[in-house]
Amino acid sequence: MEKQKASALEYSNKWLEIIKNNENPDVNQADWMIRESVNNFKNHFNAWWLDYRKSVTLADYCWLIPGECVAVEWKWKWAVFQDILWREYLDWLGWYWMMSHWWSNPDVVAAVQAQLLHTPMPSQELIDPLRWVLARIIAEITPWDLKYSFFAWSWTEANEWAIKLAKMYTKKSWFIVAVKWFHGKTMWSLSLIWKKDYREPVWQLYGWPVYHVPFGDAAAVEKQLEICETVWVWIAAVMMEPVQWEAGAIVPPDDFWPRIRAATKKHWVLLIADEVQTWLWRTGKFWWVDHWNVVPDIMTMAKALWGWVMPISAFVSTEEIWQCMMSPNPFIHTTTTGGWALACSAAIAAINVAIRDDYAWMAESKWKYLMDRLNPLVEKYPEIYESITWKGLLIGQHFKSADIWYRVTSELFKNGLLIAWTLNSSVTSRIEPPIIITYEQLDKWLSILEKVLEKVSKDIKNI
Ligand SMILES: Cc1ncc(COP(=O)(O)O)c(C=O)c1O
Repeated sequence: MEKQKASALEYSNKWLEIIKNNENPDVNQADWMIRESVNNFKNHFNAWWLDYRKSVTLADYCWLIPGECVAVEWKWKWAVFQDILWREYLDWLGWYWMMSHWWSNPDVVAAVQAQLLHTPMPSQELIDPLRWVLARIIAEITPWDLKYSFFAWSWTEANEWAIKLAKMYTKKSWFIVAVKWFHGKTMWSLSLIWKKDYREPVWQLYGWPVYHVPFGDAAAVEKQLEICETVWVWIAAVMMEPVQWEAGAIVPPDDFWPRIRAATKKHWVLLIADEVQTWLWRTGKFWWVDHWNVVPDIMTMAKALWGWVMPISAFVSTEEIWQCMMSPNPFIHTTTTGGWALACSAAIAAINVAIRDDYAWMAESKWKYLMDRLNPLVEKYPEIYESITWKGLLIGQHFKSADIWYRVTSELFKNGLLIAWTLNSSVTSRIEPPIIITYEQLDKWLSILEKVLEKVSKDIKNI
């Protein structure tokens, strides 16, 4: 055996042994695992990422390797995850809202484990049941006449394909999207993205021309549609996130979605809702668009769909629009791995658990409980908070400055509490607790936050 292969075999054997061991690693092994993880990250992925990393780059936070980013994750259970050094973190990042069910929900895990014993993947030749069981369930839970689904792995893929479907159905290529939006970084999603930093290095993109309008401004969408029609620029679709989360937790005014629905209908343009993270009662209704009884033409969904066990995303549309996927060429859109059986079993269980356990009620009672306690803190510390925005259990804390943002976030992290940053706002932290969080954990979180706010307030007054 050549040298590199022998070394790959030895190294993989070592890690397989670790993976299969259910015990916590001892100190020496933990030390080795941390060093290996950090070095592999640096040498085979991205050294700059570690320098750039915000809340978790705590230079003096490790007795093993001072000066390194050493919070290496290892085990997760419900609300808490453990790093290799057995430190516990209460997770309010919710891994960017993928988790309504929290880590390792036993019902979802059981479904996936059982499915693994049947088959992890479809054959692609016979009819596999689970993809279409899931499509049927999604047809039951989506608004009005949305009926057909197709599955992918990643969220950006679902958006890519929604864009493709809109183009195929309308035979038009142009789009209206929002400034500061985020739908992903694969080529079509990227071509609609507002931020030039992500777009420009790629040079030629697929999806232009694209018109960007301010998010939440229905009049701007109406005007843009009017102008395009007047000058014979044919728009395929208006595509929006329900809440702009990566942009810093921006909640649109109540008239936004009903008005853009009416305007798109008037101009014979499709409306695509990127419900990737807002569905499953996250904002208080099953879908974001349910707040206004709006039915989009195409909807994408992901995050909570896979119960945080096996990734899957979907795009859904009506029978009328889906025709172009079926004929004349039924193979116009295919994938080998999207909607594989393990992910479908996770999704079927995740939806089942959410309906069975009444996540609607849980989400509503918890966001009310949380906001009743969070709002007074925002008022008490005007030197720290600019404002707070929320819809249901999607909450954005907006700080006075990026420095204050960093102080609060890193202090929370030091106290074992993880919350989310945003891609496009340096002053906003997102709070995104799983819907099944307990009141005890809400109280614990609030008391840590209160302690941190008191400290940061003193620190900044002493500067
Ligand atoms: C609303 C929305 N759409 C699309 C995406 C793209 O997801 P990904 O890059 O994980 O495929 C995200 C990512 O968080 C998102 O929040």
